[in-house]
Amino acid sequence: QRYSSMIRPKVYVTRIVDDEAMDILKKHCDVTAWSGTDPVPPAELEKNIAQVDGLFCVLTDKINKKLLGMAKNLKVISTMSVGYDHLDINEIKKRGIRVGYTPDILTDSTAELTIGLLLATSRRLIEANTAAKVGHWQTWSPFWMCGIGLKNATVGFFGFGRIGQEIARRLKTFKIKEILYTSRSAKKEAEEIGASKVNFNDLLKHSDFLIVACSFNEDTKEIFNMNAFRNMKKNAVLINSSRGGVVKQDDLVKALEEKVIWGAGLDVTTPEPLPPNHVLFKLDNCVILPHIGSATTDCRKEMSALTANNIVAVLNNQQMPSELHL
Ligand code: NDP
Ligand code: DGY
Repeated sequence: QRYSSMIRPKVYVTRIVDDEAMDILKKHCDVTAWSGTDPVPPAELEKNIAQVDGLFCVLTDKINKKLLGMAKNLKVISTMSVGYDHLDINEIKKRGIRVGYTPDILTDSTAELTIGLLLATSRRLIEANTAAKVGHWQTWSPFWMCGIGLKNATVGFFGFGRIGQEIARRLKTFKIKEILYTSRSAKKEAEEIGASKVNFNDLLKHSDFLIVACSFNEDTKEIFNMNAFRNMKKNAVLINSSRGGVVKQDDLVKALEEKVIWGAGLDVTTPEPLPPNHVLFKLDNCVILPHIGSATTDCRKEMSALTANNIVAVLNNQQMPSELHL
């Protein structure tokens, strides 16, 4: 039902977001927001969710059965992310709560970052920069800091949706040999991009660069484990900008230490943040970024505005600009 101008719906925002998003919400709703830079503590979220009609959340907020049980008035959950593995979709669906998310608008930023991460890993940018800073750059040397080039490479994608395809389009300009992909369904865009669908084993076997761009779910959980690494090329570079849980991280540590694969670039890890003393940070053949795939200011502004607009649409009985159809 449409809210009368007398009764304003209530919304809780779990992070400090930009003024534009807050203004969109405040025009229509009474807004309460967590003001810390850290994630909202579960007890605080539980207290607030009981009161509100709409929730503006981010990927660190675990929206689980217990929390939903307290959300007696909740009509819409809008997450400032395209990934929604932090939401208990079955429970949300049972309760008839609508879900908003932010696909497409972050695709280009995330594709750009993934290419940056790939080059940083394969051309050893962080390792080389650190070496130069600490005085290990003594002279130009024929084989010092050599990495792996993209030219003539076979690039494989595990997951070939919006982001995977945009990465592939950009990588074509690097004179690569071929693009392979594995996903549940064949992609109509594959022909235009020049990508061939292969099964998981062939993807592992043939890829010089293997880019993980899938969503996180029961089937993709830890699919990159020692078994998978052993089926990859010894010179393969693994890049993950999906979710940390897709990789069995202890197996990756072993695979990098024992040179089962050549290197890995990770924008996502388990847990997040990865503790600074974690062994992965000690490995020269691993580049780790703190989950910054979509982190350009313009992109994050668009994401937060869309997240707010999704909430307002539901509370005003209008079509959501970006609904996740459950
Ligand atoms: P899409 O839904 O467009 O693409 C997801 C892809 O994953 C699809 O090709 C899908 O295949 C594939 N997939 C899912 N399950 C499986 C499976 N079991 N086996 C094989 N393939 C599978 O999403 P986006 O491209 O927009 O985003 C992808 C993910 O990237 C997000 O879910 C999020 O986790 C992550 N992300 C990370 C960011 C970062 O900051 N690092 C930023 C943005 C997103 P099919 O279509 O056939 O089902
Ligand atoms: C997402 O949107 O799922 C990312 O992980 C953060 O932008």
